[in-house]
Amino acid sequence: MQDNFGRTIDYLRISVTDRCNFRCTYCMPEQQTFLPRSDLLDYTEIALIAARFIRHGIRKIRLTGGEPLARRDVDVLIQELGRHVQSGALDELTLTTNGSRLAHFAPILKESVVRRINVSLDSLVPAKFNAVTRGGDLGQVLDGIAAAKRNGLAVRINMVALKGVNDDEIVSMAKYCAANGFDLALIETMPLGDGVSGRTGQFIPLDEFVAPLRENGSISPLDHRTAGPARYYRLEPLGLRLGLITPMSHNFCGDCNRLRLASDGKVHMCLGSEFYVDFREAIRIGGMEAVDGLLQKALRLKPERHDFERQMEDKGLRLHRHMNATGG
Ligand code: 5AD
Ligand code: SF4
Repeated sequence: MQDNFGRTIDYLRISVTDRCNFRCTYCMPEQQTFLPRSDLLDYTEIALIAARFIRHGIRKIRLTGGEPLARRDVDVLIQELGRHVQSGALDELTLTTNGSRLAHFAPILKESVVRRINVSLDSLVPAKFNAVTRGGDLGQVLDGIAAAKRNGLAVRINMVALKGVNDDEIVSMAKYCAANGFDLALIETMPLGDGVSGRTGQFIPLDEFVAPLRENGSISPLDHRTAGPARYYRLEPLGLRLGLITPMSHNFCGDCNRLRLASDGKVHMCLGSEFYVDFREAIRIGGMEAVDGLLQKALRLKPERHDFERQMEDKGLRLHRHMNATGG
């Protein structure tokens, strides 16, 4: 599949629920309203849409949320989508999670085709972790991550860079990841959603955020790529693989290969745009022909790049959608 700008689209992110047991300050407001359950696609509908997209060329799927492991019986969906990996139609099925239910799910994931997971972890200080997530229990998440490791899952830790919040923790986080054999991805905050606390003030470019790592070590580029937007580096002497995700300070749209299916059936073509194509009625009423037609429309409408810079400057332009709707 190609979009209007010649980019090959082979990566689908599926938000299985917009709900989450955390309320990370940069992701959603404290009082968030969630979609009524009747708006959600059921697992059969998600699986049908995914199968159709795979036929058209999607090679990788990532499940996100909200918190994907918070939706009931999500292992049923994982199993269903996993069949495409077993048949060779799909290269990979992965998952992004906040880790709070990983202790329970790690053995289940091990039995599935999922081999790699991303876990959001912004702080290793319990009180700070609790504050950023508005209620999260660090110990529970670290136990979950340990369970993932024990069960042989490859783990990448996702850390959102927050000025004045966790910019003093980059060295300790790098050491924790290196000691455990995890990759570490650093993410610049993106201005998504109204009423999300002080994000413009918390923005810090990654060049600045990683400066403490350069004091006692070196960072050199690697060829390693995954389906996502991270650029990878080797951090020595820790021997850590470090991913940098810089939507703000470097334009990463040029090789964007993604579509995002939200839990209500809307396909978002870009995190930084209001454009979407609604597949729910198509899958419920129109059938596969309608799905195919909308997919072509989504490809045609995928914007060339996001417009976060303008949204940062002009608060009025800020996207109304929160990250939990589309899953990062
Ligand atoms: N900016 C950057 N990253 C975000 N995430 C959630 N909201 C934002 C935001 N506004 C991150 C989460 C998770 C990933 C899917 O997206 O921490 O690791
Ligand atoms: Fe939940 Fe992830 Fe959003 Fe935090 S960033 S509130 S864990 S969806």
